[in-house]
Amino acid sequence: MPQAATPAWAALDAAQEATLVRHVRILRTRIAQAGGVLSFAEFMEDVLYGAQIGYYTHETVFGAGGDFVTAPALSALFGQCLARQCAQILQHAPGPIIEAGAGGGRLAVDILGTLEALGALPTQYVLLERSARHRQEAQALIAREIPQLAGRVIITDTWPGASASVILANELLDALPAVRFRIREGQAHPLLVCAEKDAFGWREGAADARLTETLGTRGWPEGYTSEISWTGRRWVGEAAAHLGAGGLLLIIDYGFPAHEFYHPQRHDGTLMCHFRHHAHGDPLVLPGLQDITVHVDFTAIAEAGHTAGLVLAGYTSQAAFLLSLGLAPRAQPESRAHRDEVNAIKRLTLPHEMGELFKVMAFTHGETVPLAGFHLLDRRPALDRR
Ligand SMILES: C[S@@+](CC[C@H](N)C(=O)[O-])C[C@H]1O[C@@H](n2cnc3c(N)ncnc32)[C@H](O)[C@@H]1O
Repeated sequence: MPQAATPAWAALDAAQEATLVRHVRILRTRIAQAGGVLSFAEFMEDVLYGAQIGYYTHETVFGAGGDFVTAPALSALFGQCLARQCAQILQHAPGPIIEAGAGGGRLAVDILGTLEALGALPTQYVLLERSARHRQEAQALIAREIPQLAGRVIITDTWPGASASVILANELLDALPAVRFRIREGQAHPLLVCAEKDAFGWREGAADARLTETLGTRGWPEGYTSEISWTGRRWVGEAAAHLGAGGLLLIIDYGFPAHEFYHPQRHDGTLMCHFRHHAHGDPLVLPGLQDITVHVDFTAIAEAGHTAGLVLAGYTSQAAFLLSLGLAPRAQPESRAHRDEVNAIKRLTLPHEMGELFKVMAFTHGETVPLAGFHLLDRRPALDRR
C-alpha cells in the first residue's frame, strides 16, 4: 500500500518506510472518519502539524541533515540586518520582540547577539513556535550560544499578553495550511484529498460562491489551479492585535503581488514540497515526511493588514531590504569566513537565488520614522490589484 505514496527518488531507509506505512494508515482512517475527503487545508494541517503524523511535529527539518535551508541558517548576516531594523524601532518604542514561527531559534540568537552588541536589547524576546520539537531545539541553542541573555527569552506556543514593539515572521506564512482550488466554467471549486486504492488523490468539491467572489474574475483558463490562504490573512489579524503603539510587524517570505500570484500562466499554482533538499510539486506523496508550502499573496496580506487597522509601511525585495540595512561581509578579507560570507550574501540577494522571490512587508500602527530597511527601494504601488 505505501509504495504509491513513495516516489522512486525518495530512496527511503527502512525506518522511514515503516513511518510512512504508519502515516498512510492513520491518514486513511482520518479521511474515512471525515466522510471520504479532507479539504486541502485540513490535509496540510494533519501532515504538517498533526500530533501523530505532523512533519513539523516529528521530523528534522532545517539544515544539511533536514529538508531545506532558510536565510538564518545561511549566515548570521541576515539576523544582523534584521537586528538593525529592530534597533531603529526599539529606540522609539522600547518593549518586547515577538518572533513568530521561530523554528530552531537561529534567527533569535543572531538578532539578540547583535542587539546586545548595539546596546539595544528588547525588554523580552518571545519565540512563538507551534512545534514542541522546535521549541526544545531553540531552548538548547539559546542556552549554548547566548546563555547570558536566556533570562530575557520566553519560548512559547501561545501569544504573550504584553504588546510587542516588533513582531517578526520569517517563512511562517508559507507554512500555514491553505485552500487549493480549480476553476470550472468561471467558478472556483475547492480541491479535496481522498484515499485511492494505493495512494491519495484529488477530488473537486462543489462550486464555492465565497471563494469565487473573493478571487474575482481574472480571465483564467478552464482547469486553472491555485491556492488561497485564509489562515495567512487571519494570522495578520492576530499579529495586529499583539502589536503595541509605535511597533513594527515585519513579514519575510517568498511570494508575489496578486497579479503575479494569479497570473494566467501560473496555471498550477505555487505549491512546493521539500524532501531532503529535493523540491517538487506533489503534496500527496510522503505524508508527514516532507515539507509543503504555498507562496504568499502579498496583496492579500496587505489588505488583511489594512482590515486589521495597520498601516502598510513598506514592501520590497529581500535583496533591497538587506542592502538597505548594510548587508556586507564583516570578516577579515581573504579569510575563509569572508569567502563564506560573500557566498551567503550572493544566496540572500541575487535575483535567481532568494533576493527577488523573497519579499519583506512592514506594517505599523500609524506614522513612524521612515523604516531603515526600505530606504533603497519601496515597491508598495506594485501591490495594487490590476
Ligand atoms: C518554514 S519554518 C521557518 C522557521 C524559521 N522562521 C526560519 O526562518 O528558519 C516555519 C515554522 O513556523 C512554525 N509555525 C507554523 N505555524 C505556526 C503558528 N501558527 N504559530 C507559530 N509557529 C508556527 C513551524 O512549526 C515552523 O517551525
